[in-house]
Amino acid sequence: ASTLAGAAQQSGRYFGTAVAASRLGDSTYVGILNREFDMVTAENEMKMDATEPSQGRFSYGNADRIVNQAIGQGKRVRGHALAWHSQQPSWMQNMSGSSLRSAMLNHVTQVATYYRGKIYAWDVVNEAFADGSGGGRRDSNLQRTGNDWIEAAFRAARAADPGAKLCYNDYNTDNWSHAKTQGVYRMVQDFKTRGVPIDCVGFQAHFNSGNPVPSNYHTTLQNFANLGVDVQITELDIEGSGSSQAQQYQGVVQACLSVTRCTGITVWGIRDSDSWRASGTPLLFDNSGNKKAAYNSVLSVL
Ligand code: XIL
Repeated sequence: ASTLAGAAQQSGRYFGTAVAASRLGDSTYVGILNREFDMVTAENEMKMDATEPSQGRFSYGNADRIVNQAIGQGKRVRGHALAWHSQQPSWMQNMSGSSLRSAMLNHVTQVATYYRGKIYAWDVVNEAFADGSGGGRRDSNLQRTGNDWIEAAFRAARAADPGAKLCYNDYNTDNWSHAKTQGVYRMVQDFKTRGVPIDCVGFQAHFNSGNPVPSNYHTTLQNFANLGVDVQITELDIEGSGSSQAQQYQGVVQACLSVTRCTGITVWGIRDSDSWRASGTPLLFDNSGNKKAAYNSVLSVL
């Protein structure tokens, strides 16, 4: 196949990208989007601050532009994200206790209900574990409502949209030997044991020289898959350039392809100039929309 999506489909997988509503008027951007990708994640437009800017008043305009563009082109959508410590609306940031718990659950229910039937998988909870050597939860207003906030969010999401796969999504969980990876693994294992509804684990996969693609990535993905969940690469970008960057991209793709339950890969933007990263050239297309060496290395192994 001559496109990322077409090549991924040969093994029953998808190849996706993050999309920003503000760029949907850019014909180069939309041209690459429509040609190369078959899964779309809203880069910011489905987050809590975007969809519930004031409490109880929901706003879906920009998210709908992305969802409708994707569905109109025959693509699927990963929903991102229902509950997260970051990018909360200001009204939520200073809430606590049972009122915050109810507000969070109401948000999950309302947004998942609004999009019921249109979402392949939801990142129900994003980035709830701490970095460092402890392997425990990240402190946040949501965490302080009680350790069961994550499973409560998953149960609310399942009730609202029984057809969507429900994912836990995080970063720095790629290296099997890291405490954070182990912490997430134990939570997923516990959820599966107790019947908490979880279907997938997302690995953001934001890599740079200080946080390189681990050589044991296959092991991590396989061990999670062995718990009975799908795994997905959800926000891939790798700082660097040329053949070194191309090789690292290839390693991530090969790690996914080697795990039957790794169902797809999403890159976090299209051109380098679309990246959220302040500097560097972390994506598969250059600023003009030309395919980079990393693109060719990914396509050649898909
Ligand atoms: C980033 C977006 O790309 C930026 O535009 C925004 O300013 C901040 O958030 N982990 C996630 C994504 O789960 O939602 C983040 O996206 C990148 C890190």
